[in-house]
Amino acid sequence: MTNQPSSVRVSLGKRSYDILIQEDLIANVAQYLAPLKLSRQVGIISNARLHRLYGTVLVRHLRKHGYEPHVIILPDGEQAKTLRWASKILDELVAQRFERRSVLLALGGGVIGDITGFVASMYLRGIPFIQIATSLVAQVDSSVGGKTGVNHARGKNLIGAFYQPALVLIDTAVLLTLPKREWLAGLAEVIKYGVIADAKFFAYLEQQTHDILTMQPEAVRYLVKRCCEIKASVVRKDERESGLRQILNYGHTVGHALEALGKYRKWIHGEAVAMGMVLEAEISHALGYCSAEIVERQQHLVQRVGLPTGLPSVTTFSQLWSAMLHDKKVVCGAIHCVLPSQIGKVTVQPLERRVVKQWFQKRGRQQAT
Ligand SMILES: NC(=O)c1ccc[n+]([C@@H]2O[C@H](COP(=O)([O-])OP(=O)(O)OC[C@H]3O[C@@H](n4cnc5c(N)ncnc54)[C@H](O)[C@@H]3O)[C@@H](O)[C@H]2O)c1
Repeated sequence: MTNQPSSVRVSLGKRSYDILIQEDLIANVAQYLAPLKLSRQVGIISNARLHRLYGTVLVRHLRKHGYEPHVIILPDGEQAKTLRWASKILDELVAQRFERRSVLLALGGGVIGDITGFVASMYLRGIPFIQIATSLVAQVDSSVGGKTGVNHARGKNLIGAFYQPALVLIDTAVLLTLPKREWLAGLAEVIKYGVIADAKFFAYLEQQTHDILTMQPEAVRYLVKRCCEIKASVVRKDERESGLRQILNYGHTVGHALEALGKYRKWIHGEAVAMGMVLEAEISHALGYCSAEIVERQQHLVQRVGLPTGLPSVTTFSQLWSAMLHDKKVVCGAIHCVLPSQIGKVTVQPLERRVVKQWFQKRGRQQAT
């Protein structure tokens, strides 16, 4: 273990913050809280499993350093990301008399991070919060960038706010307890960064697949850091997704559609994104934006890490297209999709129904032969 954590700065003027990456960081949180000059009152939002694994140690550590932690436990999974649970957390903060300089710690994956950030944005018109990201998705994606929110019964992430954390703490050692399926889902987002922004990183993933799949600490640290650097640089240029930040949605137009067609039960998000990336690369090739080699390289890597690559055979074109039209990124009825032009470079293009249908039918014929 190195003594100093690696750090990535998210430069956003007054809202700037650091992402610190190191193994066993959770045992040293107090050291990183101190410079932020917050009050001693700390709310830890987590779920039962993560509290048992890491929360109890964190509480003991914080008490030892003079903090007063108060733990709020949510149910595990997407069911916790609701206004009802946000409201329960708010009730608790009021009851415990949390103040402006009190801080919330989100100890968990993307679900805990998203709802904690959202609550922090609302309570007393905004109190500081810190992401202690425990899943790979949270470590490479959701903890960075300030998108916070909850789901509505009619759709995911429909209610939320842009609200940046005061600090992001990434303890890569906690990934060892992450279920394998969740680890692989996170790798889909990792591959995404290579395709959208960094050909060298993509080549690294191709060459070091074995070290990554066996979770060699150095490989894990490197890939988490590189993804945070890429996300930080995109967010720095476009905090509120008015342009460049859209490239982070690569794989998500088709991915979200497949997630919805699977009723959010068949595939977890990263698996749907993996399929979405493979299919969007195929569409890109069909439209003449990239070569067949790009499609093949990406498909090969996705397959090697053990993520799904194909289109579920039961899906019809009408189902797919209408699910794609329901995506919240559709503007005035037009689907704008992120398409790779090279490894490391993407373009955002409107998709025409007729052209996508042609690709879909050709794909079906090729699979039948
Ligand atoms: N805000 C953003 O920019 C952004 C980006 C991507 C995804 N998201 C959101 O993030 C959520 C998905 O995040 P996720 O994939 O982390 O899901 P999650 O938070 O549900 O975590 C996945 C599962 O892994 C468990 N887990 C997490 N860390 C663990 C660990 N170290 N050891 C053992 N178990 C662990 C969790 O308890 C959960 O059961 C979605 O709600 C999605 O909308 C937000």
